[in-house]
Amino acid sequence: MGGSGEIERRVQALLARMTLEEKVGQLNQQPLTQDISALEEGVRSGSVGSVVLAYTPFAGREGRRDQAAQRERLQRIALEESRLGIPLLLGRDVLHGHRTVFPIPLAQAAAWDPALAGRAAALAAAEAAQEHVNWTFAPMADVCRDLRWGRVVEGYGEDPYLSGRYAQSAVEGFQKHGGISACAKHFLGYGGSEGGRDYSGVDASQRQLREVYLPPFAQAVAAGVDSVMAAFNDVNGVPVTASRALLTGLLKEELGFDGIVVSDWNAIGQLVGQGAAEDRRDAARLAFLAGVDVDMCSGCYGEHLAGLVREGACPEARLDDAVGRVLRVKLRRREAPPAPPPGRAAAAAAALEAAQKGIVLLKNENGALPLAAGEPVALVGAAARQRRIHLGSWTLDGRARETASIAQELAARRTVYASCCGDPDRARRAAAQAGTAVVVLGEHWDHTGEARGSAGLTLPRRQLDALRAAAGACGRVVAVVCAGRALCLEEVERYADAILCCWHGGSQAARAIVSVLCGDVCPSGRLPVTLPRRPGQIPLYYSQRTAARSIDSYYGTGDIASYLDCPAAPLYPFGWGLSYTAFSYGPVSARREGDGVCLAARVRNTGERAAEEVCQCYIQPRGGGRAHPARLLRGFRRVRLEPGEEREVRFVLGERELSGADETGRARLWPGYAAWIGGNSRTDNGTVFRLEGG
Ligand code: GLC
Repeated sequence: MGGSGEIERRVQALLARMTLEEKVGQLNQQPLTQDISALEEGVRSGSVGSVVLAYTPFAGREGRRDQAAQRERLQRIALEESRLGIPLLLGRDVLHGHRTVFPIPLAQAAAWDPALAGRAAALAAAEAAQEHVNWTFAPMADVCRDLRWGRVVEGYGEDPYLSGRYAQSAVEGFQKHGGISACAKHFLGYGGSEGGRDYSGVDASQRQLREVYLPPFAQAVAAGVDSVMAAFNDVNGVPVTASRALLTGLLKEELGFDGIVVSDWNAIGQLVGQGAAEDRRDAARLAFLAGVDVDMCSGCYGEHLAGLVREGACPEARLDDAVGRVLRVKLRRREAPPAPPPGRAAAAAAALEAAQKGIVLLKNENGALPLAAGEPVALVGAAARQRRIHLGSWTLDGRARETASIAQELAARRTVYASCCGDPDRARRAAAQAGTAVVVLGEHWDHTGEARGSAGLTLPRRQLDALRAAAGACGRVVAVVCAGRALCLEEVERYADAILCCWHGGSQAARAIVSVLCGDVCPSGRLPVTLPRRPGQIPLYYSQRTAARSIDSYYGTGDIASYLDCPAAPLYPFGWGLSYTAFSYGPVSARREGDGVCLAARVRNTGERAAEEVCQCYIQPRGGGRAHPARLLRGFRRVRLEPGEEREVRFVLGERELSGADETGRARLWPGYAAWIGGNSRTDNGTVFRLEGG
């Protein structure tokens, strides 16, 4: 990142003037406290360098919301009343919107449209900056293949390539276009927490670290992200917060990251509880030498770092390095003030588009969708009347009262026989009055996010009973699923003719859902995660390695059953999604291009209405003495086609896309490859090719 010449000069000049305590102060981050005057005094004295705008470590669930005036005052104290006038970093979890709430990141990934996510980030940043936020703890770049983990909601799904494209776009949106600092989190491997249990240990080989968890962070660093947050978990027994190999060796030296490494909330203090540090002083020493620059809310740096430097246990050069990183980001933020937001209407329009594009049509039979024009419908399920549900997890500044419910939006479009109380008998009576029953099934907005794991991955029994009751009384049933994660929908699939996966879609979710139900908009979302039939199948993801024998797998049946009590294949695979039209693909061609290959195929809209298809390109390396992932996503493109129109889609894959890590983590090409181009990860439209000397 390196500052410009003038910024670098100012950084060095400040370092030369700073006392040891003032340097340590820049590395000390504190939360909003009840006693705001104590925080203000810390800013005034230079012992607090940044503030996380939250009262508790669970910022995503706080009902209270601090005021913009309070933040403005804190910044003014830093600039005008502290000895050196060094600005504050004021950080907040602006993950998927600020006052205008966008779909949860997982739903944004379901749109397979990183540019749209970049626009969402820029709009969120502009709104947050208006309220004196200059740092967001986003994007979350953690790849996750275990839906039991509550924080799957905050990331971009199970695939490193898709997650990397989104992480890069979000960083550019927040920083370059939105004008606030971004923070790629949580480095590294957090999405692999054992059993989906938050904060738990991660066992990962070098190959897994480099091929699965690292790519999105590498792309965030390449995009110039200002900060990276160290993860709570340990990797192979070493807490990331104390891992010099990961934070300095891999992140700062190998990837060349020269921004701020910030700990997670109290993660330094937690090293004592994890058994890695003898006491808080030892924790401060371990984290500082590992490469953590800023201590989020543990207080260990504030208490011990000056003494550790004086005693020579921590080199002053390392202190100047850490403080220099902080000053560089601060001064650059001051140099490039954010542009004013474009206004609520523009933000709402972008939020509507993001919600519509993230909706995934999983199933559509019996002519269920789109709803016939003007036809009365039954509306079933308590979630149909809910508003806050659509704002999802990690929404700090959105307003439920400004968010419409599905019931409101649908009633504005047609006659509705409603039973939105969840009672199965009343659901049955409502469903009997109409030709189609729309059953809204909802996962509570607070059942995903931090410390929100789920072992069952299913909807509440009462909701499923209402669905079954409606199915018994009505000829056509449409299930609308509003959730923060992919759930196991085997029972929903049994009773519903059509299923819309709508996630927690943000401020405009209800309008988006009704526009798809009524056919104004063609669903075009594709799954960024696999939908298992049952939790017992987890971990289940599309890029699992091919087994030694022909067993039932992700890609279908084999000679041997993987489970005696459940098919091995998912209910719906990665990349899956239907449309109100249909698409067909021609054969895949492969020809050399530069140091790589160009893969191409023609795609055609064979249906009756214009729509967007997400064309996906997968490869499978072959040979080289390795068991390779069954498939790897290496390209995708949204293509809008009129009825009958066809177009060639091309994917040029270079060395970066074709190489993989060997068991030592070293990147290499492989002798041969299979390749596919189609509408989801299980397409069989493929070819094979070799790279000479691979
Ligand atoms: C939390 C989360 C982290 C968040 C931080 C500040 O504990 O782990 O993602 O950014 O604290 O709220």
